[in-house]
Amino acid sequence: MFSTAFLDLPPLQGASGTVTLPGSKSISNRVLLLSALCQGTTVVHDLLDSDDTRVMLAALRQLGCGVDVQGTTVTITGLGGQLKHHDAIEFFMGNAGTAMRPLTAALAVLGGDFTLKGVPRMHERPIGDLVDALRLLGCSIDYLGNDGFPPLHIGQPSLKVDAPIQVRGDVSSQFLTALLMALPLAAKTHDIVIDVVGELISKPYIDITLNLLARYGIAVKRDGWQRFTIPQGCSYQSPGTIHVEADASSASYFIALGAIAEGEGIRIQGVGADSIQGDIRFMDAAAQMGAKITSGPNWLEINQGAWPLKGITLDCNHIPDAAMTLAVMALYADGPTTLRNIASWRVKETDRIVAMATECRKLGASVEEGPDWITVHPLPKDGWKAASIHTYDDHRVAMCFSLAAFNADKVTVRIEDPKCVAKTFPDYFEALFSVAHANTQDIPVICIDGPTASGKGTLASRVAQALGYHYLDSGALYRVTAYAALKAGLSLEANDEARIADLARTLPVRFEGDTVWLGSEDVSDAIRTEQAGMNASKVSVLPAVRTALVALQHSFQRLPGLLADGRDMGTVIFPNAPLKVFLTASAAQRAERRHKQLISKGISTTLDSLRADLEARDARDSSRSVAPLKAAQDAYQLDNSSLSIEASVDQVLTWWQAKQPF
Ligand code: DC
Repeated sequence: MFSTAFLDLPPLQGASGTVTLPGSKSISNRVLLLSALCQGTTVVHDLLDSDDTRVMLAALRQLGCGVDVQGTTVTITGLGGQLKHHDAIEFFMGNAGTAMRPLTAALAVLGGDFTLKGVPRMHERPIGDLVDALRLLGCSIDYLGNDGFPPLHIGQPSLKVDAPIQVRGDVSSQFLTALLMALPLAAKTHDIVIDVVGELISKPYIDITLNLLARYGIAVKRDGWQRFTIPQGCSYQSPGTIHVEADASSASYFIALGAIAEGEGIRIQGVGADSIQGDIRFMDAAAQMGAKITSGPNWLEINQGAWPLKGITLDCNHIPDAAMTLAVMALYADGPTTLRNIASWRVKETDRIVAMATECRKLGASVEEGPDWITVHPLPKDGWKAASIHTYDDHRVAMCFSLAAFNADKVTVRIEDPKCVAKTFPDYFEALFSVAHANTQDIPVICIDGPTASGKGTLASRVAQALGYHYLDSGALYRVTAYAALKAGLSLEANDEARIADLARTLPVRFEGDTVWLGSEDVSDAIRTEQAGMNASKVSVLPAVRTALVALQHSFQRLPGLLADGRDMGTVIFPNAPLKVFLTASAAQRAERRHKQLISKGISTTLDSLRADLEARDARDSSRSVAPLKAAQDAYQLDNSSLSIEASVDQVLTWWQAKQPF
């Protein structure tokens, strides 16, 4: 997951390949709650691991359910409709509507001494219609803040279920879902009838609810979309094992990607056209705009069809979440696109009509909006503006706007707070980068070089972390090469140059965080000794070895960008890098740093001898004929003798930002 302050997406050119999507949020949280209300255990496969499901799992644990998480398989031991704990419990719901609403209903029917809270945005999301319906039923619920909104307190109910209860259907379908999942608990002696007042929005989500209730043994009778009857005497039956489909709303970004990006097509694994999720119908809307889609039971394949895409007018009531993706596809269309019947966007994670309009305009588009509609006009070539997209703590805004990186004008798109995708799809950007291609020259590289012990490794890896970029420690490649050569019984001298170069060309080296792997051997410590540094220095003066490592070093230039640290990064390997930094620090300073490092490792040494060593090594490094230590002509010099590491990182980020178009 990218937990950086922002993520810059370089211009993307095409996409091909397969993505396996995480489980559906809507199905995951419903399945968790239903499994908790059952008797016995349920093994849930492919559960989504995200902020919202974690909120639900935490709440179930607080209630005394057995919860055993093994990767994406979770075993729930249910309560059997009986609470084990009767103490006061406070639940924190974050911003998870799919946990807040159904839990409110279930807890209100079970009764207890419960407080439910969330993040400030959750306290602005309406719940009054659900509370009204539950009060009609005899539940005891009090508002702890503003009337109609969380936080709430729930007490003991005195249930009366003989008359139909009414619930409004035109604000959020989650209210009806919450009642449908909770009321079987109260249907011991009577059928329970729920009447929907006003037009029911987001009907496909109710279909998911009914479908899953059936899997758990509750056959709800539906009369149109107006009346729902829960049969007397029904009880939750565990299905034993259940598989969660991949999230159809998450699929929308990759369906759109296949329609927008040139390439061999995108295959989506985990969800197909026969999905129980309403958002799968996004595929029809995407096809209307031009996508070519084929599908099987558990997969979709998307290719570019019409190009530019075709502008459409569509009632989006049936695909409220996925419809946001259409607003960004609209930027690539041949005419305006109008999305109607999307009032629910206003009460989601953020006011999504405002958010989509504001951010599309930042990219240069004209947008009109009304209470429940939005019209987005396409952006012609030369019309796109580089933009820093604000994401409003809304995962879907972040994911949608990543698709703007395919723009014809090759402008950079910055996604602010990219970690907000964790709500439903923590590895969204990794999945995007696994299928998207960019022209190599568009993938940014920052080079950092400098004399030994200048702190360039630390600086480079910290800047890489701040930007979410890959990190190439080229010195480590020479160290690993020397290590592998010695292991193969070679000498590190010129007479074995060709053989060492052969080794280097196919070096099975892999970096995983701070761990360096040579094949299946962890060589992290072995290559960090002083001796290993000397050995690296020896192989690094062999021209054939340097040439053999070029392709490997180039292969690190991957989306979204690279921090390259070492000798000739800015001069030979990435001469066109848009930012090069040459670190300098006095020999005295560097000796002191190295001294501290060695002492902390328990290696005894003196400052004077270290300093003499460093000065000798500088002289050798600068005067050697092969890859001498010298700053690239266009490098920024950074003397960090008296700078903290944070100050050095800030300086490099400031230089980098000054080169951005925002
Ligand atoms: O940065 P380091 O100490 O890990 O580097 C080990 C040796 O490899 C050092 O002698 C410099 C050399 N080197 C090189 O010649 N070219 C590079 N790109 C990186 C390191």
